[in-house]
Amino acid sequence: MKHKLLALDAGHPGQMDALEEHFEIIRPSKPDPERVIRDHQNDIKAITTYLTPISRTLMEFLPNLEIIACGAVGYDHIDLEAIRERDITLTNTPDVLTDDTADVALLLLLNVARRAVEGDAYVRAGLWKNGALPLGNCLAGKKAGIVGLGRIGQAVAQRCAAFNMSLAYYGPREKPDQPHEYYSDLSAMARDCDFLILTCPGGPATKHIIDYKVLEALGSNGFLINVARGSVVKEDDLLAALSNKAIAGAGLDVYEHEPHVPEAMFTMDNVVLTPHIGSATIETRTKMGQIVADNLIAHFKGQALLTPVT
Ligand code: GLV
Repeated sequence: MKHKLLALDAGHPGQMDALEEHFEIIRPSKPDPERVIRDHQNDIKAITTYLTPISRTLMEFLPNLEIIACGAVGYDHIDLEAIRERDITLTNTPDVLTDDTADVALLLLLNVARRAVEGDAYVRAGLWKNGALPLGNCLAGKKAGIVGLGRIGQAVAQRCAAFNMSLAYYGPREKPDQPHEYYSDLSAMARDCDFLILTCPGGPATKHIIDYKVLEALGSNGFLINVARGSVVKEDDLLAALSNKAIAGAGLDVYEHEPHVPEAMFTMDNVVLTPHIGSATIETRTKMGQIVADNLIAHFKGQALLTPVT
């Protein structure tokens, strides 16, 4: 008999096909998704999610839940305390999305610094004949401060170095194997940087660490780039800093209340907005889906997991 698997979202390309052979997939469909879950309450042994939150309440509702296979590298949307208490297994999808996410950080940085999105709109609106676009900002020789020098942060650093930028990083501890300048004080790093790039995990430890004080330190010539989690930035403070020009601009892929993006940003020329596309390529999402499936299959075969969260 196939184990029952609750799929909280559609999954990545190929993921459900890979799972269907091994699991009975329960999809909490409309009009009454809760009833669907209730109907299988005692049989659901596994959950898949991408960014759909998993609360303690849901876990407590499923007495035989053994494993959550998260199709993302970040798992701050899952109640970790409840997982630990119940000894539920958790897996994620690290490594495969590192390059794509770092690419998006640079995409945002280049676009906002060189006014590319603004320039595109300028050309399409037929405004070029009236005069040139205002000047942008050079990357070479500028300093990028990376918040969270993990896998993605290091990949961002590599790319910034290729643009002849100098590098610094902030995090909970210095990494002696890294050649870049370490700051234990986030505001001090922001003050010394031209670009503040967020690549740290979300969750309670990083919630709202970017507030008005840090943005003010970044200063009126500085740019904020966020490919981490929206929760890292106090969005109201960012809006205030952008509208009164306390910072020069921002490139954002993540937001505090996705998919809601503050409407005030829609009319700001100094902001580039993408809809959480860090890992959104066919190649990478396909790999992420395969990892989700392989972890689940390994778990129920009693084999070693590929990417357990420990
Ligand atoms: C996407 O944001 C991820 O954590 O994989």
